[in-house]
Amino acid sequence: MEKQGKRSNRLVLVPGSFQGHLNPMLQLGSILYSRGFSITIAHTKFNSPNPSNHPDFDFVTISDASYDSDLSSGNILTIISRLNVNCKAPFQECLARLMEKHNSVEEKISCIIYDEIMYFSAAVADQLKLPSIILRTAGAAAVLFRDATVPQAVVTNFLKGLGSNDIVPEFYPLRLKDLPFSKFGSLETMSKLVNELRKTGNSSAIIYNTVEFLEQSSLARIRQQCHLPLFSIGPLNKFAPALSSILFHEDISCMRWLDKQTNDNTVIYVSLGSITQIDENELAEMAWGLANSKQPFLWVIRPGSVRCSEWIEALPEGFKGAIGERGCIVKWAAQEKVLAHAKVGGFWSHCGWNSTMESLSEGVPMICRPNSGDQRVNARYISHVWKVGLELESELNRREVERAVRRLMVDKEGLEMRQNAMELKEKIQLCLKEGGSSYTSLNELVKFIKSF
Ligand code: UDX
Repeated sequence: MEKQGKRSNRLVLVPGSFQGHLNPMLQLGSILYSRGFSITIAHTKFNSPNPSNHPDFDFVTISDASYDSDLSSGNILTIISRLNVNCKAPFQECLARLMEKHNSVEEKISCIIYDEIMYFSAAVADQLKLPSIILRTAGAAAVLFRDATVPQAVVTNFLKGLGSNDIVPEFYPLRLKDLPFSKFGSLETMSKLVNELRKTGNSSAIIYNTVEFLEQSSLARIRQQCHLPLFSIGPLNKFAPALSSILFHEDISCMRWLDKQTNDNTVIYVSLGSITQIDENELAEMAWGLANSKQPFLWVIRPGSVRCSEWIEALPEGFKGAIGERGCIVKWAAQEKVLAHAKVGGFWSHCGWNSTMESLSEGVPMICRPNSGDQRVNARYISHVWKVGLELESELNRREVERAVRRLMVDKEGLEMRQNAMELKEKIQLCLKEGGSSYTSLNELVKFIKSF
C-alpha cells in the first residue's frame, strides 16, 4: 500500500529495545499499515532499527541519554529500568511535537501502542490525553505465571513449601523451577520490574502475539482477572511480510547450504536467540554432541554469545574436520526462512517466544534448552502441553546432546512430535484465515482503534 495513499489516523508505536521485542512491534506496524493506518515508530537510540528497511513507516528517536553507562552494561533488567527513567521526559516532548505536526482530523494521532517493557509510554499517553494499548510480546501462559508468582512475597512462600521439581498448584504442568526468574538480577529486582509490567493503568486494551487455541485456558484466566479487551492476533510473523534483520547482519549463504542437503526434514537448526550466552565448555559439548549425532546441522553462533570469545575461536580442535560439510555455522540467519525450508526437521532453541511461535507456525518440532525469563514456561508448554518437543534439562554434555538430537530427528518419538507439530501448523493456518480466531481478533482490534 502506498505511503501517500489515503490513510486512517496515525498510530505511534513504541517497541522494546531488543531484537525479540522490536520484531513483533514492527510486524504489528506492518499489519496495521496494511489496514490503512499511518505508522510512526518511536524508538530509543539504544538498539535503534534502520528506517531505510521500513519505507512505509515514519521514525522518531527518543533521546535515551545513551551516554548512560547502565545502557552498555549488557544487563537487560538494568537497561529496561534505565530506559524507563531516561525516556519519559524526552518521549513526552517528542509526542507533543508529533501531535502538533499531525493535527488535522485525518492525520491526528489516535493512539499509542507500547511494548509492556516501555511502561513510561503509558504515563506520557495519560499526560497528553491519548489512549494507549499494551503489546505483550511473551506468551499468555508465561505472563499469567509471572504476574501471579514473581512478586517477592509469593515466591518466598513457594520456596518455603515446594521443591524445585514440584508442580506449582493451579499452574499445571509448570514447576517451581519454571518460575520466570531472570539471569540478570535478584528476585527483588525482578519483582520490581514485574510490579511495573502488571500495571495496566489507564491503557485501553492488551494485544498478545499468541493464538487462542494454543493458550485458551491462560487467556481465559487473564480475561477474568483483567477487564480490558484482549486481542490475541498471533503469530504476528504470519500476518506480516518477513522482516529484514533489525540488529544483526543475516548470512544468506546458509540458505544455499540448506538447498544442497539431500533429504527433507533432516537438518537440525540450532539458535539461541539474540541475548542468551553460553560458556566455552557448553560450546564444546554442544559441538561434539552435534558432531556425534551424525545429523546435518545449521548452527547460529551470534558473535559475543560465547562468553570470553569474539565468535567461534573456542570451538574444539578437530571439530571442523569431524563435521566436514555436514554442518554449517553462521553468525545470524533469516530464521523464518530457515524454519520454512523443507530440509529443516528440528529446531534446538532457547525457546524465546518469537522463536516458539515461528517454529510452531512452520510445524518444526523442538529441542528446548531454556535459559531465562519466560523461556522455561515456553519450554514446558512445548514439551508437555503441545507435545511438539523435548526438553534438554540435564547439564549440557555431549552424550545427552547426541541423544536429544537423535531422539528428535531419528527416533519414533521424534516422528510423533513432528506429526503433532504439523497438525498445530495446520490449525494455526486456519486461525489466520477469514473466520479464524486471530483473523477475527485482528479485525476487532482495527475496529477498536478506529473507535477512539
Ligand atoms: C527475548 C526473550 O529471550 C524472549 O523469551 C522474549 O519472549 C522476547 O525477548 P530473544 O532471546 O532474542 O528474545 O528470543 P526470541 O523471542 O526467540 O526472538 C529472537 C528473534 O530473532 C526471532 O524473531 C528470530 O526469528 C530472530 N532470529 C534469531 C533471527 O532472525 N536470526 C537468528 O539467527 C536468530
